[in-house]
Amino acid sequence: VTRQLEGKPVAQALLERVKQRVATGVAGGSSPPVLASVHLGDEGPFSFYLRQQERTARASGIGFRDVRLPLDVEQERLNSTLRELDRDGGVHAILLQHPLRAGLDFFDAVSSLSPEKDVDGVGATNLGRLITRQEVHAPAVARAALQILSHFRIPVSGRRVSVVGRSATVGLPLAILLARRGPEGDATVTLAHSRSPDLKAVLAGSEVVVSCAGRPGLLTRENAPGDSVVVDIGLSSVPDPTKPSGARAEGDANAQSLDGWVSALTPVPGGVGPVTVAQLMLNTVDGWERLTGGPR
Ligand SMILES: NC(=O)c1ccc[n+]([C@@H]2O[C@H](COP(=O)([O-])OP(=O)(O)OC[C@H]3O[C@@H](n4cnc5c(N)ncnc54)[C@H](OP(=O)(O)O)[C@@H]3O)[C@@H](O)[C@H]2O)c1
Repeated sequence: VTRQLEGKPVAQALLERVKQRVATGVAGGSSPPVLASVHLGDEGPFSFYLRQQERTARASGIGFRDVRLPLDVEQERLNSTLRELDRDGGVHAILLQHPLRAGLDFFDAVSSLSPEKDVDGVGATNLGRLITRQEVHAPAVARAALQILSHFRIPVSGRRVSVVGRSATVGLPLAILLARRGPEGDATVTLAHSRSPDLKAVLAGSEVVVSCAGRPGLLTRENAPGDSVVVDIGLSSVPDPTKPSGARAEGDANAQSLDGWVSALTPVPGGVGPVTVAQLMLNTVDGWERLTGGPR
């Protein structure tokens, strides 16, 4: 049978730590951490995740500032909004929701963030420092995948791990985290992408497969190795007239096909998603403690 690696207990364990650290800092005289979330226009198909971020922040004692810019905002105004938040002593963590509309450069916008406030670890400083283990924050979704593996005691050290997807904010940083020397790393990493011919041959022999391609149903028993552990980061909105919203969330894994074939699988929804939100809160508290000189 295929074991379901539920995200909820993992997220709960992380959020307990968050709450305790916030309470300790506040008892020591600090004002509570504040996370600012910047997004453009209306929230699109994943407004649910924005609301989940806000709810989770507030429930953990973290202030949440919702910064909404018009969809047709110019690059310079977007950049200056992030620079202002970065200078604002009342804000400890800044998240730019993406993808942005065509014509805007995400990496240009986040390049002005200081590494402490770049809570999703997507600015050039944090991404570059991943290589030498000197980052303040790593991308939350990549760390979330590792948190799930560690929570369920699935080792990666010395094992063959494949990452499917190589975006600069998800797949590539995850491959670095897995491959680098030391805790949560030491894996032998294969990095697959849309130009990799024959996914089955590329994945053959992998003990762990982490998919972040954003292609619903990509992984099946035809290409995923039997008995492997599959962590499904993919999250796509698929039209579904039976849902009130007209759409449902789907991962990269075809769960029906993989059931009984792989040894473990994270569900979508309820797998990586909630852990990513919890990891964002943990990153927020890390940054806040650094900025306010608190314990780490
Ligand atoms: N659960 C969460 O909290 C969370 C957080 C962030 C992102 N996500 C989800 O994670 C997924 C990836 O996000 P992203 O921002 O990295 O997306 P992205 O920028 O679209 O990158 C997708 C990557 O997958 C590769 N790819 C596409 N089709 C493929 C195929 N058939 N076989 C192998 N590789 C393929 C692409 O290759 P090329 O480079 O060659 O184009 C690219 O590297 C999305 O579904 C996103 O919604 C989830």
